[in-house]
Amino acid sequence: MTIEIDYNFCFSDILQKEKLSFEKIKDLDSKVNNIHEKINRDKKGKVGFYSLPFQEISTLEEISKNFQDKFDTCVVLGIGGSALGTIAIKKALLPMFGKKEKKLYIIDNVDPEVVTEFFEFIDLKKTFFVIISKSGSTAETISQFLIIRKILIEKFGIKGYKERTVIITDPYKGTLRSVANEEELVSFDIPENVGGRFSVLSAVGLFPLSFAGIDISQLLNGAKDCYYKTENNNFTNNLAYFSGMIHYLAYEQGKSINVLMPYSSKLYGFADWFRQLWAESLGKNGIGLTPVKALGTTDQHSQLQLYIDGPKDKLITFIKVKNFHNDTTIPQQEIDDSYKYLFNHKISELINSAVDSTRVALAKNGVLNYTIILSEINAFNLGWLIFYYEVMTHFTGYLFEINPFNQPGVEMSKNFTYGLMGREGYQNKKFEFEKIFKNISKDFVISGDIDG
Ligand code: PA5
Repeated sequence: MTIEIDYNFCFSDILQKEKLSFEKIKDLDSKVNNIHEKINRDKKGKVGFYSLPFQEISTLEEISKNFQDKFDTCVVLGIGGSALGTIAIKKALLPMFGKKEKKLYIIDNVDPEVVTEFFEFIDLKKTFFVIISKSGSTAETISQFLIIRKILIEKFGIKGYKERTVIITDPYKGTLRSVANEEELVSFDIPENVGGRFSVLSAVGLFPLSFAGIDISQLLNGAKDCYYKTENNNFTNNLAYFSGMIHYLAYEQGKSINVLMPYSSKLYGFADWFRQLWAESLGKNGIGLTPVKALGTTDQHSQLQLYIDGPKDKLITFIKVKNFHNDTTIPQQEIDDSYKYLFNHKISELINSAVDSTRVALAKNGVLNYTIILSEINAFNLGWLIFYYEVMTHFTGYLFEINPFNQPGVEMSKNFTYGLMGREGYQNKKFEFEKIFKNISKDFVISGDIDG
């Protein structure tokens, strides 16, 4: 099991004036040393995701087994960091089609149509719900919880509701923790020092994924391996630091958009998870690397024209998979000669030729790109990749001298919503909102006539 990163098309002469200077990377040496010290201090308790690979999981696995014995479906209710990592790993590691022994759904939005359809569709008898919220108060998640709580109590009584409900939240703080304690629900902790978007390797991801049959110890083994590999301050040996520096220097050269483009549909959810991690952690104080997710080869036929020929404001990261677990050969047959070149090639050859072609085409046009090469998609490599991105985000935040662990912008919007929905203590937010909203001009609200 290996992961390697090919940075050639960040430094190659083919990029001409756009290429990064290795000298500038070296110039960051003393800054990197200072950040390394700071990160080492953070690891001693302030920043908790570093401890997650080493956690004891036997109790969690045992509880998950009990739920497997009783239920065939697990539904996660959560949003943002309480959902995206689980979605990413589920999509990467479970078969996309066909019947599964255990089903896992993650409902992370409050789209009224989807929520209503879902609650009508699901067979409640064989289903249990995992409510995940670090703060214990996010309006979307709590609304879903309240809806399903009432349905479960009406259908199965209090006992049946309790049997079908698991809470994952802060160990001490927040209303959801109080509810879990008062109602004596099965619950797990999100460690106090682990923020939402860094929490996938806590019970947040591990519990539902273990229920779905994913080898969570291998996820943690991958993360552990990455922990050791990102421990040193020698930047050329520390991939998380080195990538962080690349993003930092590229940003200084005007590359403020970071595209993550896996050439694997199974890793598209991973790009979504990355998008949140990168955006919420690094978009602050007027600084920001705008993450964009794209999918190879699909988006070659949608985005690539812009990436190659548009403004040179992007740094693109590809993920290439060396060995796919399933593959299909394009069969030889009687048909127009112009298709012959495809005969007897595997479609893995096609997808990997496409990623390499795209890397070269971009470089030739002065677009910086680097490629993460995975030996295969498995739990170990995924755990590794998650941990690598978390360390990189921590490090990159400090390079930009911003705190990667808060999200004041998200809180601002959450607080306006609380105000609008009438939450006690947030009336001033409602007034503030209304003051702005009432003054907006009707002149700029333009309606289109719809015929028919
Ligand atoms: O990373 C974060 O902190 C956020 O994206 C949260 O995960 C998201 O807002 C959901 O919050 P909570 O888990 O408190 O419901």
